[in-house]
Amino acid sequence: MKLLEERIIKDGRVEGTDILKVDSFLNHQIDVELFNEIGKEFKRLYADKGITKILTIEASGIGIACIAAQYFNVPVVFAKKTESRNLDQETYESEVYSFTKQKSYIIRVSKRYIQENDKILVIDDFLANGKAALGLKDIIDQAGATLEGIGIVIEKTFQKGGQLLRQDGIRVDSLARVKAMENGQVIFEN
Ligand code: G4P
Ligand code: NA
Ligand code: NA
Repeated sequence: MKLLEERIIKDGRVEGTDILKVDSFLNHQIDVELFNEIGKEFKRLYADKGITKILTIEASGIGIACIAAQYFNVPVVFAKKTESRNLDQETYESEVYSFTKQKSYIIRVSKRYIQENDKILVIDDFLANGKAALGLKDIIDQAGATLEGIGIVIEKTFQKGGQLLRQDGIRVDSLARVKAMENGQVIFEN
C-alpha cells in the first residue's frame, strides 16, 4: 500500500536494525484518515470471504480493527492479555511467547464471543515473530471457527513470523512489507 509506505518513510524511525517506531501515526498518536484507508484495503482484500468477526489483541490492534470493522459491518473481539476479574469464567486461552519481552503471557477470549460458524479475519499492527498471531489462531481452532486470513499493517519480512504462518497454510496479507532497515533507512519488499 503506497500511501502507507510513503508515511513510514516520512514519519517512521528506525531503532537499531530491527525496530521500527511508528508512534506518530500508529502506536501512540493515531492518524484516523490513514486507518480508514487501511480499513478499506482490508475490506477490498477480504470482500468475498463472508467475514463475520474481526479478532485482534490488545492494545495496538484494537483501533485498526475497529476502523476496519466499519467497512465489514461486523463486531470486533480483542484478546485480553491481563487476567481480569470481570472476564467470563469460560474462556479460550493460549500462551504467547514475546521475543521482545523475553517472556510468555496468556491471551484470553470469552467463549461467548467466538462461535463455530464464525469466519474470522485477524488484524494486527505488526508481524514480527508471529507468536501473537499463532496464539489467536490457536484460540480460533479451539472454538472450531474458521480463520479466513490475517491482515497486518506492517510485516517485518526479515523476522520469521510471516514464513511460519504461511507455512501453516494461513493466508497473510501485509499492507507494508519491510525487508530490511539499514543506516536508519527502511527498505521495502517489491
Ligand atoms: P510477535 O512474536 O507476536 O510477532 O511479537 P514480539 O514478541 O516480537 O513483539 C512484541 C510487541 O512488539 C508486539 O506488541 C508487537 O506488535 C510489537 N512489535 C514488534 N516489532 C515491532 C516494531 O518493529 N515496531 C513496533 N512499533 N512494534 C513492534 P505488543 O506487546 O503486543 O503491544 P501492543 O502495542 O499491541 O500493546
Ligand atoms: Na500488536
Ligand atoms: Na505493538
